[in-house]
Amino acid sequence: MHRYSIAFALLVAGLASLPALARGATTVLPATGGTLRVAFDQREPRPGVRLLELTHTRGGWEGQLTSDWYGTMPMRNIVRSGNEVSFDIRNINTPDAPVRRWTARLTPAGVVLTGGVWFSEVRQTGKPVGAARAAALAHREVPLPPLGTIAPDGLAATPPMGWSSWNKFAEKIDDRTIRAMADAMVSSGLRDAGYRYVNIDDGWQGERGADGELRPNAKFPDMKALADYVHARGLKLGIYSSPGLKTCAGYAGSYGHVEQDARTFARWGVDYLKYDLCSGEWQHADADTVRRTYYQMGAALKATGRPIIYSLCEYGRFDVASWGRSVGGHLWRTTGDITDDYAKMSEIGFERNPRFGHAGPGGWNDPDMLEIGNGGMSDDEYRTHMTLWAMSAAPLMMGHDLRTTSPAALALLSNRDAIAIDQDPAGVQGKAAIVSGRQEIWTKRLSDGGMAIALFNRGTEPVTMTLAPDEIGLTRIGGLRDIWRATDIDPSARSFTVPAHGTVFLRARGAS
Ligand code: GLA
Repeated sequence: MHRYSIAFALLVAGLASLPALARGATTVLPATGGTLRVAFDQREPRPGVRLLELTHTRGGWEGQLTSDWYGTMPMRNIVRSGNEVSFDIRNINTPDAPVRRWTARLTPAGVVLTGGVWFSEVRQTGKPVGAARAAALAHREVPLPPLGTIAPDGLAATPPMGWSSWNKFAEKIDDRTIRAMADAMVSSGLRDAGYRYVNIDDGWQGERGADGELRPNAKFPDMKALADYVHARGLKLGIYSSPGLKTCAGYAGSYGHVEQDARTFARWGVDYLKYDLCSGEWQHADADTVRRTYYQMGAALKATGRPIIYSLCEYGRFDVASWGRSVGGHLWRTTGDITDDYAKMSEIGFERNPRFGHAGPGGWNDPDMLEIGNGGMSDDEYRTHMTLWAMSAAPLMMGHDLRTTSPAALALLSNRDAIAIDQDPAGVQGKAAIVSGRQEIWTKRLSDGGMAIALFNRGTEPVTMTLAPDEIGLTRIGGLRDIWRATDIDPSARSFTVPAHGTVFLRARGAS
């Protein structure tokens, strides 16, 4: 007898609830009608496979994994070879590998599972368990409601402005830091420049109580008190969750508790929710389910009766700009995550945020939070960042440590002309009017009949750029303001020196 077979037979010998194993020297997997169930008490945290179930039917093998992150993961194309089965598991975010081949090998030490999802590799060993234990470990599927439509509520008439914890602090956040950010937003003058939301991103969540209620972790002793503190400073509080089982950083998501979480947030006094698809991308992998899962939270927020800005974060999938409003969204991310470097910022700002027609009062394309003040770009590059976001009528969510804002960053972030263009009540998303090699001229129609004009030099050498009014739909320019130099200039100026990766940002008045 093969030594693995002996060992495996010993391993399962005491488990009366295990199905009969096929007889024979080398057969250790279940016979027809039988199921092998394996629990993984020790598991890779992501995707956290806690249970393997494998059944032999007349038609062949069937099976599934149960994951802390993704719930039920069905096996496909199961092939048995001796004491090993291999099978396909759907992969995500990896277009060149839409499935991964996994194996479960029966060894004297237990069942060794290997495989992977996205960037997580799995190699873990589990033990066979009975049906009752497996049932306790199984994922409880919660069906989505049918899709409905949420009427506009008048919130976010202009793009939301504020600060979010993620870009600078990631999970290193606590009550004290959030309070300090609220204080700094006031003392720096940024509140009075228009920034209002103080948003706690991922990392505040603790465990759910027996009542299902999601509690903050120990770093946030009292969310209601924190909201009161923020409100007392004329500011608003934002929070973060996911429709999935886990948030992107692995904290509890709202899966199965959507309405309850919405009520909890409202009770705490939350004014803004960023709802990040994260692990929910497994269950919600098509347009219909993504839309319904965002509708579910949109409806739940509405049902609380509290005005709450609803920020959809599903990275621009399934043309979210075209339906974001109808599920209650006030802004929707159009891309993956920004990073504090010119390459990523400019790729997002210039190329990945193009659903212009859908932006406007009540609903905004969100190219992600600002990196200004975090130090990864030059002053010219940060000026381009702020200009692109203002021209795009993008939400302006600062992402640096507000306590240590440099004078240069403060000047950019609090420039009233730039903010006025971002916040222009007409809510037009600007776009490129002329693209010539690495040079782009963007325009944005303003509510006063004027036009914001940005001359962008994406190249690595300074250039001279020419403004030709007739090429951007203007017959005359009555007045011209250079926004970053904070001065009115000669309206007949047509030639501008634009630094490498830099921008000249203009507001034309009396233009037609
Ligand atoms: C995703 C989002 C980010 C941030 C992190 C938090 O990556 O896109 O903006 O919220 O999750 O884990």
